[in-house]
Amino acid sequence: MNLEDRVAVVTGGASGLGFAVAQRLAAQGATVIITDIDQAAGSQASKQLDATFVAHDVADETSWQNLCQVVRQKFGPLNVLVNNAGVVAKAEAADPEHQSLAEWHRLFAVNSDGVFLGCKTAIGAMREAGGGAIINVSSVAALLATPFGTAYGATKAVVAHLTRTVAQYCAREKLDVRCNSIHPGDIRTPLWDQWATGLATERGVTFEAIVAEFEGMIPTGRMTTPEDIAASVAFLASDEARQINGAQIVVDGGFVSCNTYALTTSGGPLDPHRSFPASDGVSLVHPPSGDTSGKEPAR
Ligand SMILES: NC(=O)c1ccc[n+]([C@@H]2O[C@H](COP(=O)([O-])OP(=O)(O)OC[C@H]3O[C@@H](n4cnc5c(N)ncnc54)[C@H](O)[C@@H]3O)[C@@H](O)[C@H]2O)c1
Repeated sequence: MNLEDRVAVVTGGASGLGFAVAQRLAAQGATVIITDIDQAAGSQASKQLDATFVAHDVADETSWQNLCQVVRQKFGPLNVLVNNAGVVAKAEAADPEHQSLAEWHRLFAVNSDGVFLGCKTAIGAMREAGGGAIINVSSVAALLATPFGTAYGATKAVVAHLTRTVAQYCAREKLDVRCNSIHPGDIRTPLWDQWATGLATERGVTFEAIVAEFEGMIPTGRMTTPEDIAASVAFLASDEARQINGAQIVVDGGFVSCNTYALTTSGGPLDPHRSFPASDGVSLVHPPSGDTSGKEPAR
C-alpha cells in the first residue's frame, strides 16, 4: 500500500491509537502531520516519528481553519484525514439515569463535533486536492449499546452516521472523496490501561485479571492492538480501498460479529451485573446491581 505523495493529518496523534496510525502512514510513505491538544506529548511524538506537529483542538472550528492553512502552505493539498482524537466519560455515573449533562456535552464536543468539523474542513481541502480519503475513528460502542456508556456510545454512533452522510454528499458533488468509519474493540492504550487499573482497584483484582477477562470475551482470544487499527486505516487511506465508501469497518477480533455478549450470557439479555462464565481461571463477575461505577470499557 503505497501512500507516497499523500499528505495525511492524524488528529489526537500524540498517543495511543493515533500515534500508531501516524507511524504506519509515515512508514508507507505519507507526509504525516499529527495534531493534538496536548502540546508536550504532541511535540515528543512528532520527534519520534519524524513528523510535523500542530497544536489543535478538534472541538474548535478556528483551530481547524488554522490547521488547514498550515498544512496547505507547508505541504500542499490534504489527501488523507484520520479523525482519531477522542475522550471517554468518567466511569462513575455513565448510565442514562445519572450521566451529567456537562459530561455528555464534553464528550459530544470532542467525539462528535470534532469529527463533524474535521469532515467539513476536509471536504473543502480535498475538493482542491482532486480527491482524498477520510477515516473516522468510531468504536464498537456505536454498534452495541450498553447501559453504562450513555454519552460515549451516542457520540460514536453519531460518527458512524455522519460518515455515511459525508460519503453520500461527496458522491453527489462528484468529488473523489471516500469516507469510512472504523470501529475498534478494546485496545490496550494508555487510556484503556488507566480505565482498567481503576476497575481492578474497584473489584479488588489484579490488572492482569481485568485484561484476561476482556481477552476471554474476544473470539480471537486477544485484544485489539493499535497496530491492528493502524493497518486497517492505512488500507482505507490507500487506492486499494477505492471501492470502499461509507462503510463501517469493525476491527475487534470478532467481538461484535460473533455476538460475544450473547454467547457469554447464554443468549440472555445483556445484563452488566450478571456473572460471566469463568475463563482462564478468572472469575468474570461484574459488580453487584446498584453499583454504577466502572463497568464500561474505554472503547
Ligand atoms: N482504546 C480503546 O479501547 C478504544 C476503542 C475504540 C475506539 N477508541 C477510540 O480511538 C480513539 C483514540 O483513543 P486512544 O485509546 O488512543 O486514546 P488516547 O487517550 O491514548 O489518545 C487520544 C488522544 O486525543 C487527544 N485529544 C483529546 N481531546 C482532544 C481535542 N479536543 N483535540 C485534539 N486532540 C485531543 C489526547 O490528548 C490524546 O493524545 C478515540 O477516538 C477513542 O474513542 C479507543
